[in-house]
Amino acid sequence: MLDKDIDRILFSQSDIENRVADIAAEINRDYAGKSPLLISVLRGSFIFMADLMRAIDIPVQIDFMAVSSYGQGAQSTGMVRIDKDIDISLAGKHILIAEDILDSGKTLSHLMALLATREPASMRVVALLDKPSRRTVDIRADYTGFEVPDEFLVGYGLDYAERYRNLPGVAVLKREVYAT
Ligand code: PRP
Repeated sequence: MLDKDIDRILFSQSDIENRVADIAAEINRDYAGKSPLLISVLRGSFIFMADLMRAIDIPVQIDFMAVSSYGQGAQSTGMVRIDKDIDISLAGKHILIAEDILDSGKTLSHLMALLATREPASMRVVALLDKPSRRTVDIRADYTGFEVPDEFLVGYGLDYAERYRNLPGVAVLKREVYAT
């Protein structure tokens, strides 16, 4: 059903599973003796964080934030609105922000500036996908799954107009679907 809109699969479910296991191993090592707070930036990252946290074997806590930046279209507006905030105090916590994709970097840069004011003990970013060719803000993830080309990606949590999030892998959307 959704497949007819897909140009090609970039990363299959098992490609992602393998890469997530590698990232989890790095996190296990880097945070040994600590209990980081994983923060999923909704909605796109919820699948990634769900898989990542189960591949991690040190104690973790989780929470969720919701921000919006893209609206219903394909282009970032540069506007970031906090739709759901974290209720607990971040003071003294080791926080690890989980993103599905780092694109222009605007969302993350706004979010990190906000969270830094809450005085966490440390703050790092884990992003499944990184699209460095689109970056307008000087920012990078501490842990990255895959570097990706400048194409419209959907699946594994990523949407176009709220669709395709349930595709099991990451796929390139056919241009005719989003180009008018
Ligand atoms: C996506 C993604 C990041 C942001 C990255 O979220 O999850 O939060 O865009 O783009 P940027 O680096 O250009 O700021 P989106 O706003 O599409 O919301 P969603 O997660 O609910 O799909």
